[in-house]
Amino acid sequence: MNFPQTRMRRTRMKKFSRDLCRENNISKSNLILPVFVRPGTQGAEEIGSMPGVFRHDSNSLLKICESALNIGIPAVAVFPIVQGSQKSASASSAWDASGLVPTIVRSIKKNFPELGVITDIALDPYTLDGQDGLCNNLGEVDNDATIAALIKQSLCHAEAGTDIIAPSDMMDGRIGEIRKSLEQMRFTNVMILSYAAKYSSSFYGPFREAINSKSSLGISDKHSYQMDPANVSEAMREVALDVSEGADIVMVKPGLPYLDIISKIRDRFDCPVFAYNVSGEYSMIKAAAQNGWLDERKVVMEAMLSFKRAGASGIFTYHALDVAKWLT
Ligand code: PBG
Repeated sequence: MNFPQTRMRRTRMKKFSRDLCRENNISKSNLILPVFVRPGTQGAEEIGSMPGVFRHDSNSLLKICESALNIGIPAVAVFPIVQGSQKSASASSAWDASGLVPTIVRSIKKNFPELGVITDIALDPYTLDGQDGLCNNLGEVDNDATIAALIKQSLCHAEAGTDIIAPSDMMDGRIGEIRKSLEQMRFTNVMILSYAAKYSSSFYGPFREAINSKSSLGISDKHSYQMDPANVSEAMREVALDVSEGADIVMVKPGLPYLDIISKIRDRFDCPVFAYNVSGEYSMIKAAAQNGWLDERKVVMEAMLSFKRAGASGIFTYHALDVAKWLT
């Protein structure tokens, strides 16, 4: 039926009917707060390119975790800043049981057992060259040697009590091998959140500055394992493989420039889909807001809703504490 029988504006005219007709909502239970932890006891240090985001020491990190839990954020994702002396060609600090990540995981789970803890599985904070994997003598990231290292890192995190391990490295076959090892070691309930469709993106710039891996990476790139931003079908194959290998949840990263990928995965697969609203997306909004060019609260809430509309149920976002506050 056409105009005037159909007037699309009728239901939009009043707030109550707009509310009743709303198809998607963002709630606190969709949020995951990524947090950065550094060694020592120097407190919190703001990250230059990410205003409002800090490199924490263990005390200030626990305070942030407490705020997140109290305000109703279900989970945090922990990323370490690793000292130069702990980096090596073999990345062996990545599975040191007394390292930064396992130590902070034990302490978060002890203090706030209900708060979900997600840890990143990838070697970039621990390698000298800032690559997510180990290099062979040709300088190529060696897939199968890397898997062996990722298994050790995964078991180390599981042992420390992490709820969800999140392989973000994009090696082939790692989900299956990690799942097999977790089962063998009886970590049967540790979830795997696979960064299944992770693109080789320039939106990760501020994150690499945050964890000091930017200078290690130098002019190199991650194109040999992260996906080409031009590809869609390839993302579907990645997701199918990771689900068949035992991933519980799949992730798309970055977020906003890749909403089409989230939506396609949602249509084709029945597993939960998460989105990573990455550092560069955060910094763009912050910079514009600081200049008075955008209304931060309104654009952030609109961006959050767009993730829900596309089909994501969990959203990694550096805005999580603000969003939760605005929803309170
Ligand atoms: C690396 C990793 C990256 C991010 C999360 N894990 C960066 C990269 O792949 O170089 C980026 C997150 C962000 O930009 O917020 N394993």
